[in-house]
Amino acid sequence: MDHFLYRDGALYAEDVPVAEIAAAVGTPFYVYSTATLERHFKLFDEALEGTEHLVCYAMKAASNQAILKTLAKLGAGMDVVSQGEYLRARAAGVPGDKIVFSGVGKTYEEIHTALTGGIRQFNVESEPEMIVIDQVAQKLGVKAPITIRVNPDVDAKTHAKIATGKSENKFGIPISRAKEVYALAASLPGLEVIGIDCHIGSQLTDLEPFRLAYEKVAELTETLRAEGHNIRRLDLGGGLGIPYTRSNEAPPLPVEYGQLIKDTLGHLDCEIEIEPGRLIAGNAGLMVSKVIYVKSGEGRDFLIIDGAMNDLIRPAMYEAHHDIIPVIEPVPGTEQQPYDIVGPVCESGDTFAKQRNLAPMVAGDLVAFRSAGAYGAVMASEYNSRPLIPEVLVHGDQFAVIRERPSFDEMINRDTIPAWL
Ligand code: LLP
Repeated sequence: MDHFLYRDGALYAEDVPVAEIAAAVGTPFYVYSTATLERHFKLFDEALEGTEHLVCYAMKAASNQAILKTLAKLGAGMDVVSQGEYLRARAAGVPGDKIVFSGVGKTYEEIHTALTGGIRQFNVESEPEMIVIDQVAQKLGVKAPITIRVNPDVDAKTHAKIATGKSENKFGIPISRAKEVYALAASLPGLEVIGIDCHIGSQLTDLEPFRLAYEKVAELTETLRAEGHNIRRLDLGGGLGIPYTRSNEAPPLPVEYGQLIKDTLGHLDCEIEIEPGRLIAGNAGLMVSKVIYVKSGEGRDFLIIDGAMNDLIRPAMYEAHHDIIPVIEPVPGTEQQPYDIVGPVCESGDTFAKQRNLAPMVAGDLVAFRSAGAYGAVMASEYNSRPLIPEVLVHGDQFAVIRERPSFDEMINRDTIPAWL
């Protein structure tokens, strides 16, 4: 459920007409709903009620500080994967002891920043990384709290580019080697081993892969405890999928996911962390764009819009489906027609949808891409020298620009010209 609904024939973001935002900020832009962000966070938080837990929002999904603050106010922690994300979370007021640091390639500098600034734990992905964390911690005279990410070799049954839990993926250490890697960790004086981490992929629409992975984590917890490790925290990653269309079967709900966690791991008396990103932000955001031209091709009509693959890369990169709806609701009974919906970028990959049925459109009409809140703005680029598009946050009947559209000068003047030119 989200808060983007038609009211009296117009699409609203909570209590604000989307067309009003378009008139104020121009197109294209991203708009997020505070109520939806809050609702999704609470669904996870409530799903783990009765268990000591922290929901660490995977901020890679949508990292604007206004979004982080909205969630942090409700008690969210953050899952970060870079120094930039760490500093952004801190700038948004998130305390270090609520930040977990994931990612396969943490550098010396990143580790140093997090250890001096405060960190809840590092989710360690390899032995070489573990050794560097130990070195930095020893140099600073502290103990770095760590979990080790294990790769449970489970098929997440999702798009290959976002599956992470198979042995051929670059993530974590093979669960079969966990005992020896934990033994190494325990021998390093700069580390404090506190738990296990596991994340198997994104946009999972079935609980079964989670069950398989979490059962392995449960077994490993007992094995490691028997070896003398004080395993007291389990970070279970993110990955629960969202409905991208209204027609297809809905993925499992957070409450069902929470129950699965309790069923598979509840007996271990561990603190639970989860790292959802997409489910919190995905359906809390739209990308709004304007039709520039309607072009008749051979046997098909193209809707050429002002948003492009650089603004929302998911269709080009993952063949992802986003529902695209008109901002002015068509009169009931209006006959639809198929359009290829494309952006102005100079490659055929800049296609959002093929033969998508919509009510007839004309130049100047606004369309909204649903489910664009996660992995939308954060993956945007300036390809074709198109400035990054603004982000807007709605709260009831108010809205605020939370990232301005840069001017062309701002974009162009970042280049510097060498003296010999
Ligand atoms: N934790 C870790 C360690 C992760 O790598 C990820 C996502 C998450 C949590 C959050 O997963 P989520 O709950 O959002 O599924 N750009 C792709 C998705 C990449 C996901 C990367 N890792 C897309 O647009 O579909």
